[in-house]
Amino acid sequence: MIKHLKVVETQAQKAKVFLEDCNALNGNFLPIKRDGFVLWPLNFEVEGDVVECEGLSSTRISRDYRLKLPLELRNIAPRAFDIFGSMAIIKINDEVMKHSDIISKTLLDSNPNIDRVALDMGVKGEFRIRELVMIQGKSNFIAIHKENGLKIKLDVSKVYFSPRLAMERKRIVDAAVEGEHILDAFAGASPFSVGLAKKGCKLTSVDSNPEAEKWSHENFELNGIRNESYRFITSKIEDIIQDLDIYDRIIMNNPTNPLPYLEGLSSLLKQNGFIHLYKIVEKDAEFKIENHLKSDFKCVSKRVVHPYSPQSSMMAFDITRAVSNVRNTNQ
Ligand SMILES: C[S@@+](CC[C@H](N)C(=O)[O-])C[C@H]1O[C@@H](n2cnc3c(N)ncnc32)[C@H](O)[C@@H]1O
Repeated sequence: MIKHLKVVETQAQKAKVFLEDCNALNGNFLPIKRDGFVLWPLNFEVEGDVVECEGLSSTRISRDYRLKLPLELRNIAPRAFDIFGSMAIIKINDEVMKHSDIISKTLLDSNPNIDRVALDMGVKGEFRIRELVMIQGKSNFIAIHKENGLKIKLDVSKVYFSPRLAMERKRIVDAAVEGEHILDAFAGASPFSVGLAKKGCKLTSVDSNPEAEKWSHENFELNGIRNESYRFITSKIEDIIQDLDIYDRIIMNNPTNPLPYLEGLSSLLKQNGFIHLYKIVEKDAEFKIENHLKSDFKCVSKRVVHPYSPQSSMMAFDITRAVSNVRNTNQ
């Protein structure tokens, strides 16, 4: 079974361009037309209406790398993997680890767009850094990833990045208005910030990981953003709240631990502004963001961005600050 993004036919070409742009379109399979919808085959899960069904092989002999493996490995090798630029990142469980060499070599040989394969040992610590072991191809973890018409360059072993947020980043860029002042509070290598700055917004990007600053500058430059459109601050966000401005929009992309920062960051939001807060939510838990908002804040929409684990999902909450009833005495 292959994951597919289901879109109405009229949106099919737009969706294809988007999926190609972020390496999410699985070229081993063909799109499926069904009842006024097109199902695009995926390399990895993206945000949207994702359905699982039998893939339609694009060649008579499928290019699914697993079909080139010995029979006994085909069903235990991972079907899905992330692609960051020219690097494939795969997760292999302990049981299958002894076959990692042949699995990764077959994956590399089967895909002309990949020049190395790294093993994902999980994301850890405050900086959310991915522990990676290179098992095929060149030994460094620096690559340039293309997403939404932007180039994002970084060392994925030193700064957090997830290609699975491409659609979410596009959604926020689409929602923003040119000229807005935006705080990207947990910016990483600045994939949100760069897209927003490209749209003509003014960015303050903050991250506590010093490597994030290095790659953020590289990414602003790589995408032709002028210095005056952004500033990057290397700090824990909670240590600089008092020195920051008031913003039209605040991005809180620290999904494993956003709530301790919500009150402080809320104080920096303009009336009618938006906070986009991401949080990992257990599927069977009754999580209510409303219980964490002050009375003049309101959650206007919430959505699942992507599954995080079998038991949990990453969710996005769009929060706004209502216009105050208190009369401004200067008026
Ligand atoms: C999930 S990553 C998000 C990165 C980026 N927004 C993206 O979309 O790729 C969370 C980031 O928050 C940073 N971080 C964690 N705690 C922080 C804090 N207290 N203040 C500022 N940054 C923090 C980490 O270093 C990490 O880069």
